[in-house]
Amino acid sequence: MIDSYGRRITYLRLSVTERCNLRCRYCMPEEGICQKDCSEMLTEDEMIAAVQAAASLGITKLRITGGEPLVKRNIVSICRRACAVPGIQDVAVTTNGLALPALAKPLRQAGVNRVNISLDTLDPEKYRHITRIGRLDQALAGIRAALDAGFDKVKINVVLIGGFNDDEIVPLANLTREYPVDVRFIELMPMNSSPEFGPAAYLPSRIVLEQLPDASALPESDGVARLYRLPGALGSIGLISPVSNHFCAQCNRIRLTADGKLKPCLHSAVEYPVKGLSSAEMLEQFRRTIGSKPEKHELLSALHPSQAGRMMNQIGG
Ligand code: GTP
Ligand code: 5AD
Ligand code: SF4
Repeated sequence: MIDSYGRRITYLRLSVTERCNLRCRYCMPEEGICQKDCSEMLTEDEMIAAVQAAASLGITKLRITGGEPLVKRNIVSICRRACAVPGIQDVAVTTNGLALPALAKPLRQAGVNRVNISLDTLDPEKYRHITRIGRLDQALAGIRAALDAGFDKVKINVVLIGGFNDDEIVPLANLTREYPVDVRFIELMPMNSSPEFGPAAYLPSRIVLEQLPDASALPESDGVARLYRLPGALGSIGLISPVSNHFCAQCNRIRLTADGKLKPCLHSAVEYPVKGLSSAEMLEQFRRTIGSKPEKHELLSALHPSQAGRMMNQIGG
């Protein structure tokens, strides 16, 4: 379906849970989230009905997110059924990777094409700090498991955080020399009022290129990332610049949260509920969501926080 600004909407980000086995400081409060009642969350059947409605309106690409999608008990079944929906051509999962040693192969067999894995540092102490509870060796084991499982692509997401990982841009980028992975540096989006992740922590993605003078620009782009490659590297470097260079004009996506709210834009508080609706009503809500997609988000800059009205773990990245 085409929205009011001529954009073809082909990408649904489906969050399957708000829960996570980590507590990344920029994403979640320390105490985790207040557990919503099960009856408020979408069931597996409702998620699949939503994917069917989306596919009937021209969605071809599905990303499964969270929270951490792999903590969901029935994640393999959700993925298998979503992959089988007619019209869905590309199914990807965004994960912190911790559960991939057990789940990479079952997900691949279920039909998942690609995985994106979050990794903000290569230093075990810093990994523990930023995730509050995580172990770097488990995340690295997850990346290895993803490579062994034979996904079409494995991407590593690095959120750029001033004073935290700006001294690790070169070693993180060097992962593309050693492994067939794409490493994407993402500008920190001001999603909450935590001063630790306010304007002082924001770094524009161009600082990545300043530290990688031998990176050359690749002609093709990959969704929202601008791509570069280090000489002889196996994978690409991507810059995702939601703050310094909004990609709203090319935005092709809508979101469905784990508690059943369709969001036309990551940074807007507008939501359309689908929980408990019939297939026909759900389809109507999808039409409304695409029809009301805003032209752009106005306020997101290092000084103007997101109006999303939710923490990132409750939206799905
Ligand atoms: P592919 O291009 O399919 O590999 O995935 P992706 O980059 O769309 O997904 P991923 O889940 O890896 O997200 C990468 C980063 O882009 C995260 O920091 C997301 O929060 C951010 N992002 C994803 N969608 C949007 C969006 O609609 N608007 C903005 N501003 N940021 C987004
Ligand atoms: N800004 C940018 N990226 C973020 N992510 C989570 N919170 C933020 C934020 N405030 C990233 C995660 C994950 C992806 C889905 O979103 O690190 O890779
Ligand atoms: Fe979990 Fe990802 Fe949020 Fe970290 S950024 S707490 S891994 S959902």
